[in-house]
Amino acid sequence: MRARRARLGDGGGSGLLGGIDAVARALGLGALVANLALGAATASAAGAADAPLPGQTLYEQNCLSCHGVEGKGDGPAGLAALPMPRDFRVGQFKFDADGDGRTGTDRDLFLVIRDGGAAVGGNPLMAAWGHLGDERIRELVAYVRSLERPRGGTKR
Ligand code: HEC
Repeated sequence: MRARRARLGDGGGSGLLGGIDAVARALGLGALVANLALGAATASAAGAADAPLPGQTLYEQNCLSCHGVEGKGDGPAGLAALPMPRDFRVGQFKFDADGDGRTGTDRDLFLVIRDGGAAVGGNPLMAAWGHLGDERIRELVAYVRSLERPRGGTKR
């Protein structure tokens, strides 16, 4: 590739056409360098971040609109829901989906996410997510649990 050897200030010939050619090549190189720099910055930012739980992306894509970034139930659609979703940060849950007398066990959360709110007599806005598959649903349960904060505070 000829452009690889071009340097800023390398006239690349004489006269007006040569000048334009040099500028074009310099611009081309500039864009290339900018792209490389951007790529490197993105890669290092991703590497530096804490490894997210696998359920986080799923949550952000599917659940955040109602349950909110921190699980507070304050996503734009969640605010309009009646009953509103509970505050996941407090770690109190409503449904005893498996009927074992305790609400909010991992099994309960799993079943509510898989079968939806209506299946346990709750708000049908909480859809059934069974199509995601058991593995993904378990990841979501783990992520919902990770949103729990002592005293319902903000993220540590
Ligand atoms: C369209 C809005 C909406 C979306 C999207 C949504 N939910 Fe919900 N969710 C609700 C509402 C409303 C409730 C409260 C239901 C009730 O109390 O009857 C709820 C309740 C829950 C509960 C509560 C269980 C309990 O016992 O209190 C869990 C867990 C839950 N959602 C997980 C999820 C997960 C995980 C996703 C994404 C895969 C999701 N939700 C997507 C609206 C939504």
